[in-house]
Amino acid sequence: MKLPLSNRLLACASFVRPGDRVADIGCDHGYLGIHLLQSGVASSIIASDVNEAPLQSAMHNAAKYGMKDKMTFYLSDGVRNIPRDFDSLVCAGMGADTMMSILDAAPWLKNEKYRLILQCQSKRPELRKYLYANGYAIRRETLAQDGKFIYPIMEVVYAPGQTLTGAEYYITPALRASSSPLFPAFLARVTEGIQTAVDGLSRTGGERYEEYKAILKELQEL
Ligand SMILES: C[S@@+](CC[C@H](N)C(=O)[O-])C[C@H]1O[C@@H](n2cnc3c(N)ncnc32)[C@H](O)[C@@H]1O
Repeated sequence: MKLPLSNRLLACASFVRPGDRVADIGCDHGYLGIHLLQSGVASSIIASDVNEAPLQSAMHNAAKYGMKDKMTFYLSDGVRNIPRDFDSLVCAGMGADTMMSILDAAPWLKNEKYRLILQCQSKRPELRKYLYANGYAIRRETLAQDGKFIYPIMEVVYAPGQTLTGAEYYITPALRASSSPLFPAFLARVTEGIQTAVDGLSRTGGERYEEYKAILKELQEL
């Protein structure tokens, strides 16, 4: 039975290594984990969600698609109640504030043995700044399109001591290296967003204005 998997979740799945034990945090319907097992990529799945109803839906779908034996289910705020014996953690479809609070509550994730696959819905530059300020680094980044939306998906590792420039928190070196065919369209959208911010601040000026202007200049030079 074929799963209704979005391009966004397929791109998250593409960052999972063969044989990985995967923790899907905020699993909702559980489709990502089921897909990773069906395709033979993951060896096991921890599926967790902070809400009972999505977790029940994940359990129902795991049984429906014959994957319940390789999945374990946890009602958990972030990674608080889940076991730590996994290789890759996926956090998809959440905002930056939720992701940052999940990572804040789990300093044990600051370990080279874990890989974080993050697909953030809002305030992405803020999340990237948080990651670098906390010793994480973006090793790979790609893009996926569903409808009119283009989503960045990041593979993050603990590699302290690295930093990015102002514009690189918007368009990372990892994304530039990705050769994604969606890159030109995504860069245009990000640049347009910064241009709008610059235009909006141009009458008042100030620190934010100067900051956005510098970011815009850097993006235009890419
Ligand atoms: C929009 S859905 C995304 C589902 C799926 N990961 C995806 O990308 O399609 C967000 C899910 O995250 C769960 N969630 C929100 N905050 C959470 C937290 N702090 N810990 C675990 N799950 C959380 C919600 O209950 C919801 O099921």
